[in-house]
Amino acid sequence: MYPRGREIVLGVSGGISAYKSCDLLRRLQDLGFLITVIPTRSSLNFVGLSTWEALSGRPVPTELWNNVHQVPHIALAKQADAILVAPATADIMAKVATGIADDLLTNVILASTVPLIFVPAMHSEMWLNSATQANVQLLRSRGHLVIEPDSGKLTSGDVGVGRYPDSSKIVDCLTTTLQSRADLRGRSVLISTGGTREAIDPVRFIGNNSSGRQGYALAYAAVARGAQVTLVAANCEIADIEGVKTVHVTTALEMQAALESHFESADVVIMAAAVADVRPSVFNSTKIAKEDLSAIPVVKNPDITKELSRRKSSQIMVGFAAQTAESRAEGLALASAKMKDKGLDLVYFNDVSGGAIFGSDKTAGVILTATGDTYEFNSGLKVTLANRILDLVCDKLSYPND
Ligand code: CTP
Repeated sequence: MYPRGREIVLGVSGGISAYKSCDLLRRLQDLGFLITVIPTRSSLNFVGLSTWEALSGRPVPTELWNNVHQVPHIALAKQADAILVAPATADIMAKVATGIADDLLTNVILASTVPLIFVPAMHSEMWLNSATQANVQLLRSRGHLVIEPDSGKLTSGDVGVGRYPDSSKIVDCLTTTLQSRADLRGRSVLISTGGTREAIDPVRFIGNNSSGRQGYALAYAAVARGAQVTLVAANCEIADIEGVKTVHVTTALEMQAALESHFESADVVIMAAAVADVRPSVFNSTKIAKEDLSAIPVVKNPDITKELSRRKSSQIMVGFAAQTAESRAEGLALASAKMKDKGLDLVYFNDVSGGAIFGSDKTAGVILTATGDTYEFNSGLKVTLANRILDLVCDKLSYPND
């Protein structure tokens, strides 16, 4: 299932966790990847040239000014199927975010158009610094992948976010990215995400915990597979994705209007949004005093998916069912009933008891299809789930009567 014989540039920047990339390199080789390591000058203080040469079995270029006649930065950029920067320091992300190219690795990155994945590892303060976070946002908005660092014990002895993630997480991200084919070229994908908010008064609203990450991961994956993507996002704190038309909405009714206006031209509709089931019957234009807040009269919001299904021609419809059932069997039954009731072709069921999954990069659950198939999704990145869902959608688009 993993792509073999793919050329990867492994950029190593100057952090203590550079030694962990030795294990990563081995894991990637086991999967059949061919690795060219490009260490930055400062990273050689942590892991030396000979180690990289011995492990990769290849020459390790470090300088822009060696073999100039071969124009090495362009040759390396052309040869790569993906560039993985692990560990990625705050410095290298800042350089790439601003387009600085002052060594071989940054020149290769600037000259390349292939998927670029950063694996940040640094002390918490450096990761959480607003300059680093702004650079991460900028890199993501350009379609580059920045894996969230793990939390735990750091080199200084402190505990916090900033640890080099488990190699399997990095391998997962890389293989998912490379599996992306242009199988959605010419297709139009409409995605809803986030959580709608229904105002009670100028300061309060009825809302939910959805971060919108799953919908953004779907949009990333769909656009990488060549689709034309419209994302209707409710109250998400995530930067827009380059190449994705993002419509920002607040309420369920606004979301419904935006989805309806894009529905007819869509081939695929994915409802990842958490829609508030009710809204206050009246909006109080002034803040309600707490003494008067014993009850809030509400009216039901429309079931957007059900309404869209009624107008369906050939659209493939995908829904999400976040349940807090007593048992897994009960959760699956509820998700299956929702799929039928809402006219969906696929539904992703996940157990959200105790707030699990919201706001995380990871998810676990089961994909159910209207034709009775089930696919387990054991814990993995939301972007990996996104690609699994899109694989099934592509099958459905190719064989609509199956
Ligand atoms: N959904 C929708 N319109 C609503 C509520 C939900 O389109 N008013 C969609 C969601 O985007 C999701 C699916 O329906 O794809 C299931 O959402 P969920 O909140 O689990 O289901 P509900 O119908 O709200 O049922 P309940 O809250 O009773 O579990």
